[in-house]
Amino acid sequence: MTTIARTPENLRSSARSVAHVATEFEERPMAQDYAPNPNLKIWLDGKLVPTAEAKISVFSHGLLYGDGIFEGIRVYGGRIFECRAHMERFALGLQAIRLEIPWTMDQIVDAMNDCIRANNTVDGYIRLVAARGPGTLGIHPFRCVAPNVFIICDKIQMYGPEMYETGMKIVTASTIRNHPNALSPQLKSLNYLNNILAKIEAIDAGCLEAVMLNHEGYVAECSGDNLFIVQGGRLRTPATHCGLLNGVTRRLVLKMAQKRGIPAEETTLTRIDLYYADEMFITGTGAEVCPIIDIDNRPVGDGKPGPFTRQLIADFRAHIKSGEEML
Ligand SMILES: Cc1ncc(COP(=O)(O)O)c(C=O)c1O
Repeated sequence: MTTIARTPENLRSSARSVAHVATEFEERPMAQDYAPNPNLKIWLDGKLVPTAEAKISVFSHGLLYGDGIFEGIRVYGGRIFECRAHMERFALGLQAIRLEIPWTMDQIVDAMNDCIRANNTVDGYIRLVAARGPGTLGIHPFRCVAPNVFIICDKIQMYGPEMYETGMKIVTASTIRNHPNALSPQLKSLNYLNNILAKIEAIDAGCLEAVMLNHEGYVAECSGDNLFIVQGGRLRTPATHCGLLNGVTRRLVLKMAQKRGIPAEETTLTRIDLYYADEMFITGTGAEVCPIIDIDNRPVGDGKPGPFTRQLIADFRAHIKSGEEML
């Protein structure tokens, strides 16, 4: 048997081949295209500044320890999508990690709208971050000076447009989702290493998303999306007690199913349920609603996006167009 030495050069070349697999699916294949947009106006601690001036300290506990929370929010037609639901989750997150910021939620919404206007954003994506401020090198959170709050208003394209027509392949990751009593997946914290490790497994397998199981072996969610299946005309998704982020898009899809009279349940799912599913799709602010047609090299249903998935995608797009808040 030949063994490959884990020399720095071998590791670098294996990283290169992994990067190659990933970029085949990416919209922007050139490494230099991944640089941040230099022409943005970023809202940072109360001021709109150009990208180059949007800097925070290397002593930020948000950076040193992932001590902070965030929201990813869509802008459609110049409007903040499902603003109330995102702000509620953000406020709960601040409370959960005992991070006090010097802005009310209404002021943050005003700041996001300022940012949308300053960047002439019609359709885009907002990243709202509250990070524990610069502090000592110990983890003590209350020995930090003022927190940093910033808002980036940019674009996002998670998957190519064709994936919404033809569907996507995913795999199950061996990395399990965080134990809810360690770091609850319901908290959208700045510590995403758990998800990133699963994402790496997806990329290694030539996919863009991976299913994560929980500490008990039940299905939780994907690395950055929630997961739904359709079985015998019923919509099924893991319940929040299975250890997942209660996604805004997930909640919208459950509401839209209810409106359509599609029976839906929040339940416990095992991996075999995924293999027996007639249809499958993922939901997320970045991903929106995207069909899954293959999991772990097993076709989902007939290997094409099914009728329930297509209906819910159409309903989701109609809801975006309506400009209304549903949650
Ligand atoms: C781990 C994880 N699960 C699910 C979701 C979907 O949540 P939402 O629909 O609120 O964007 C996200 C974020 O987008 C996420 O990071």
